Amino acid sequence: MRALSLLFALGSLAEAISLAQRQKVVQSFNVHRNKSSETTPLQVGNGNFAFGADITGLQTFKPYAIMSTWGWHNFSLPTTPGQTSVDDYTGLQMWTHGRLVPYEVPNPAQNDISNWLRENPHRLNLARVGFDFGRQNVTEDDLQKKTQELDLWSGKLSSSFEYDGCPVSVETWADPDTDTVAVSVNSQLLKKGLGLFLDFPYPDHEKFNAPFVGHFNLTSKHTTALEHLTPNSATISHTLDATTYYTHLTWTGEGTITPPTSPSHRYTLTTPHQTHLSLTLTFSPSVHPPSTPSPNIPTTSHTWWRTFWSTSAFIDLSRIPSPRAAALQRRIILSQYLTAINSASFSPPQESGLTNNGWYGKFHLEMALWHTLPFARWGRWDLFRRSQPGVYQRLLDAAKGRAKSQGYRGARWGKMTDPQTGRSSPGDINALLIWQQPHPMYFAEVEYRGAGTRREEWEVLEKWKGVVGETAEFMASYAWWNETSGVYDLGPPVYPVSENTNPNVTQNPAFELAYWRFGLDVAVRWRERMGEAVPGEWVKVRDGLAKLPVVDGAYAVYEGIEGMWTSNATTNDHPAMAGVFGLLPPPESGEPLDMAVLKRTAEKIKELWALDYSYGWDFAMLAMNSLRLGDPEQAVEYLLHPIYQFDDAGYPVGGSRVPTPYFPNSASLLIATAMMAGGWDGNEGKEGHWPKDWEKDVQVEGFLPAL
Ligand SMILES: *[C@@H]1O[C@H](CO)[C@@H](O)[C@H](O)[C@H]1NC(C)=O
Ligand SMILES: *[C@@H]1O[C@H](CO)[C@@H](O)[C@H](O)[C@H]1NC(C)=O
Ligand SMILES: *[C@@H]1O[C@H](CO)[C@@H](O)[C@H](O)[C@H]1NC(C)=O
Ligand SMILES: *[C@@H]1O[C@H](CO)[C@@H](O)[C@H](O)[C@H]1NC(C)=O
Ligand SMILES: *[C@@H]1O[C@H](CO)[C@@H](O)[C@H](O)[C@H]1NC(C)=O
Ligand SMILES: *[C@@H]1O[C@H](CO)[C@@H](O)[C@H](O)[C@H]1NC(C)=O
Ligand SMILES: *[C@@H]1O[C@H](CO)[C@@H](O)[C@H](O)[C@H]1NC(C)=O
Repeated sequence: MRALSLLFALGSLAEAISLAQRQKVVQSFNVHRNKSSETTPLQVGNGNFAFGADITGLQTFKPYAIMSTWGWHNFSLPTTPGQTSVDDYTGLQMWTHGRLVPYEVPNPAQNDISNWLRENPHRLNLARVGFDFGRQNVTEDDLQKKTQELDLWSGKLSSSFEYDGCPVSVETWADPDTDTVAVSVNSQLLKKGLGLFLDFPYPDHEKFNAPFVGHFNLTSKHTTALEHLTPNSATISHTLDATTYYTHLTWTGEGTITPPTSPSHRYTLTTPHQTHLSLTLTFSPSVHPPSTPSPNIPTTSHTWWRTFWSTSAFIDLSRIPSPRAAALQRRIILSQYLTAINSASFSPPQESGLTNNGWYGKFHLEMALWHTLPFARWGRWDLFRRSQPGVYQRLLDAAKGRAKSQGYRGARWGKMTDPQTGRSSPGDINALLIWQQPHPMYFAEVEYRGAGTRREEWEVLEKWKGVVGETAEFMASYAWWNETSGVYDLGPPVYPVSENTNPNVTQNPAFELAYWRFGLDVAVRWRERMGEAVPGEWVKVRDGLAKLPVVDGAYAVYEGIEGMWTSNATTNDHPAMAGVFGLLPPPESGEPLDMAVLKRTAEKIKELWALDYSYGWDFAMLAMNSLRLGDPEQAVEYLLHPIYQFDDAGYPVGGSRVPTPYFPNSASLLIATAMMAGGWDGNEGKEGHWPKDWEKDVQVEGFLPAL
């Protein structure tokens, strides 16, 4: 409560945005469809569980996914001699400053186990639920008067259509607290044989499973069984190799489950004595679900979402008579709904959340900053704390093991991560990327400033202390003392944020140097705040770091890069130099940033960068850089850039490089807009952070300044 009142005190005091006004703004972006999308579902969910629906409110015609944070599967291990166990995998050694260091990269002599480790475990699509019309080959075109509305204020998906001239209406809800979807159906057709089917897929070896996950025709590879049946409940087990999980169904009235005829896994539920059916499906890894769903999911969902929208920070652009403001507001609202459903999990989300599978469903720790930071910046601390700092605490032993095996101290965080073991999937980039290392410091510092009392501050210090300390230990021992130049170097071998350089020659990337300094500054401050001794090594490395590389008066990707601002080979992928000032605050130690260099960097990126080939979050990072440089018009231009797209339901379009949805784009938009609303240290509040002609009509509430 105190954190909240502090939030509001620091926000714009005069401008409390009423509950009714928030509701009006939110519901003005309710999603309407009249046919299924080819690429995205409409979803209900809770961050650890999500249900993707087609136009029928179920998955009748489009097998959109039902995914969870616990549902994972392994294919069987290779049988190739010497590669039959994960312990057989050795990675490869690479020369690193005069010594051989083992890296988790694919080993050509161990192709099978290297590939296995990349593909496993992968996230499961738990099931498919749809209408069974009682005859074959019914298509979406056979339905008339299709309409659908997703109400963002209550989490209710309402769908209706007619079949054979008879109306069917459907409501779909998710339980905020369990892995449960609730469905209610009203139709005379229920009495004439309209039923629901439930089917189960088997996964494949593809890196990206979009828009659908798994296959329903690989029926001989897995088994299902009806474990338990009463007139109004059933439990079905699904076994895929070593993985088994359960689907628990309950329904109102009396129903009949028709089991599949081999080789199918399709079960059918019919309830022929009624015109109303309420059904719940709870998924769980154990035969008894760990917690019982709410007895009234519509009410619980409505309360949860109303609280979600009414107790957080808020941006209201509705008074601005500009289509651009409306477009930005739409992105802001829908991104909040979608990231709450897809990204607020116990672990950081995969880049496609719980919508479909990217990179086998694993999360990438360098992306965790984008995914998780918005919850803190918008005052949704409960969602932030679902994974922070727990995910780092869970992965700490694995990270320490990685550092130790490479001859470093402390904890080296992986990239594309197995959530159960913390193993980083073998990959050249995975093993050599380093910008995920200081993320814990960023999270810790943001959470610290959100604390409302001394006691809360102390709790934040205590809980992050171990993770921050081990991270700093690694960062200090990773930096390499270069006798010749008399500075600490980062790399080689290293991949910078832009993953398109030769790691063997990449040294002192600009963003990573700035981030190393930031991370060590926070680690030092953490010890000082706790009244503890600061390890001398942290200070020595921080103070000895190489200078940020400059070419033609602008920051370069890395030191010594050829043709930086003259060849188009170097001006594409992530323009991370914009993050030096966009994502990071000005440095607290060392020399101040050179404003002329920062400005020239922004100009050169705008003029020369291959933005058509950029990812969405590049635009958010560029927008934040523009903001700090005093150019909010440019910031908004980046946030509405034609390459930075969101579809009709607000899903972030993947673009040329990854499938849709790509949630770092939604999350980064929320981080950038939070900065426009709350300012940053030394430039707090919203003034001067919006286009001139919008400024007087922008209403914001509840934002703390950014770092
Ligand atoms: C379906 O939706 C589209 C896009 O919103 C709209 O243009 C069209 O008029 C709608 N059709 C019907 C039959 O409602
Ligand atoms: C997959 O296999 C790995 C290695 O044996 C194991 O650690 C992990 O628990 C397994 N995961 C699943 C979901 O079976
Ligand atoms: C970097 O060096 C390693 C050997 O240490 C080699 O296997 C790899 O191909 C090199 N990478 C590039 C991009 O040249
Ligand atoms: C349904 O479609 C399949 C494949 O097109 C066809 O073989 C089958 O005869 C159809 N069934 C009916 C009842 O129309
Ligand atoms: C199995 O289903 C997939 C879609 O999940 C489809 O691409 C494939 O062609 C089907 N295979 C067969 C043999 O029907
Ligand atoms: C030491 O720094 C100089 C200047 O930056 C660089 O050219 C050289 O490659 C570095 N030495 C090593 C061994 O990395
Ligand atoms: C760089 O320029 C060349 C020649 O104009 C062009 O063929 C190439 O596609 C460009 N590459 C990028 C990444 O823009």
